[in-house]
Amino acid sequence: MSKPRVVLTRKWPDEAEAKAKELFDAVVNEDDHKMSIDELKEAMCEADAICPTVSDLQIDSDIFSVKNRKCKIVANFGVGYNNIDTDAAKQAGVIVTNTPDVLTDCTADIAMVLLLSVARRIGEGERLVRNKEWTGWCPTHMLSTKVTGKKLGFIGFGRIAQAVAQKAHFGFGMKINFYDPYPPSDEIIEKFNATKFNILEDVLKDSDFVTLHCPGGGDNTNLLNKERFELMKDSAFLINTARGDVVDEAALVQALKNNVIAGAGLDVYAKEPLVTEELLGMNNVVLIPHLGSATTETRVAMGLRSLENVKAFFDGNEPGDRVA
Ligand code: DGY
Repeated sequence: MSKPRVVLTRKWPDEAEAKAKELFDAVVNEDDHKMSIDELKEAMCEADAICPTVSDLQIDSDIFSVKNRKCKIVANFGVGYNNIDTDAAKQAGVIVTNTPDVLTDCTADIAMVLLLSVARRIGEGERLVRNKEWTGWCPTHMLSTKVTGKKLGFIGFGRIAQAVAQKAHFGFGMKINFYDPYPPSDEIIEKFNATKFNILEDVLKDSDFVTLHCPGGGDNTNLLNKERFELMKDSAFLINTARGDVVDEAALVQALKNNVIAGAGLDVYAKEPLVTEELLGMNNVVLIPHLGSATTETRVAMGLRSLENVKAFFDGNEPGDRVA
């Protein structure tokens, strides 16, 4: 029996691509270009499965409803799946899966990197040294904000947020605040001695650092807007490793410019890879290029997890990570 044909929309790490070729009739994206709408439609018609990523064009109803579609499963390479219109997938009868768990630790590490970097002015200090502008130690040089013992507020308290809380609470003695419409068990709340807030705004008011861990798109678009920035402490920092569109970037720029908040650490942006120009010139922001899951170990694991979902489906089983 011939193997199912599977299209990987972007280049994957070697080990994961090799597995794709072993299990399936895999079509890889050798030059790693971003596929056009026509290419995605063609893939829908030629392949039994597609494994897309966050940086692809949205797989929307136009693509799902292409004539002579063969594709039966879209196995996202990534935990966030706002690059796929799941309602359109359901309507078309196409299964959608994602890759949870395997990127939890590395994404949480990056949230801590951003938190520590922006509070302790690491980017700014590094630029000073590299530019040969450092004139030496003195008691008032580059004073920054202490992290240990401060209040860390979570918007969304799922897997990645809890992994951040693990590091922040047990490693840095931070006090944990959170808002989540679907809160975790009492056991988890007790483990972190966390304070659960029923109103998102109250987390913003009470926290020294606010870190975002909710899905992008839909009602969460521009969740952090002008009004909400104004509720934050003027000494507070915003950390975003979730999705760029959760933050109104124009409002963030104004909040930073007008000292409404003290700084921000960003891994994700509303219009990646574009970054709002004004942010680039600000010293009180740390900007990195969507690196949350970017370790070799994790990116291989994401590929393998995406393939496991495809394999389960073609073996006649329910894929473990079905989201639609
Ligand atoms: C994720 O998995 O959601 C990462 O942001 C990459 O897509």
